[in-house]
Amino acid sequence: MDPKRRAAEGALSFLEGARIVGMGTGSTVMELVGLLEPDDRVYVASSAETALALARRGFRVAHPSTVRSMDVYVDGADEVDGNLDMIKGRGGALTMEKLLASHSRFRVFIVDESKLVSALGERGGVPVEVLPEAIGMVEGRLEEMGLRYSERTCQGKRGPLASDTRGYLLDVEVPRGADPRELDARLRSIAGVVETGFFLGIADAVVVGYPDRTRLLTRGREATRDGGKRRGRPTCARAAAS
Ligand code: 5RP
Repeated sequence: MDPKRRAAEGALSFLEGARIVGMGTGSTVMELVGLLEPDDRVYVASSAETALALARRGFRVAHPSTVRSMDVYVDGADEVDGNLDMIKGRGGALTMEKLLASHSRFRVFIVDESKLVSALGERGGVPVEVLPEAIGMVEGRLEEMGLRYSERTCQGKRGPLASDTRGYLLDVEVPRGADPRELDARLRSIAGVVETGFFLGIADAVVVGYPDRTRLLTRGREATRDGGKRRGRPTCARAAAS
């Protein structure tokens, strides 16, 4: 079976008991949307793509401004390291993803095995969302800091890609051996930077899909699979799933 679909299947049990569910963006999340059975939950989406997919399947989708928090957040990721720190945003939705994840009681990420890395930045730069008016100034600061970057563009439109939250996106190379926390703090210190794609200390659980199995990696709160109601102590535990 497709590893992304397997990972998506592994997320279903985390939704049990959840009333308000935050949903991320990407092909693995789309697998999950396709697996959902009709329910009376309210979903909050991190992108227009996910909101439309949910609405077209008949699910209730609330605008993020109308909710105060979510029981569970489910999303994909671009890179996951051994501490369950992640890079996200290569699908352009990092700001909404960070917002929804940060206001959810339990956060589970679904990835195929290709997303596991030994060091963040191994497979690409860290996405950074920038206020459109600040693009030149932010690029100037990055150059002063000695950081290399590229502007994200897209097909079907000339010029920079604007995210669903209307920011421009830069992909900033992670220098070899860089400490992600330090680099994240440096990037955030630049006026005009809206958000970075470093998701550090955010994942409570990661379901990794392989062709023939899934593996559940947990950190922090116990992986309760009950809509995130119970909390555990930080354990850095790793548990095998099906
Ligand atoms: C979007 C993201 C996605 O979660 C990430 O790109 C993973 O996508 P996919 O499931 O298609 O591999 O961060 O901004």
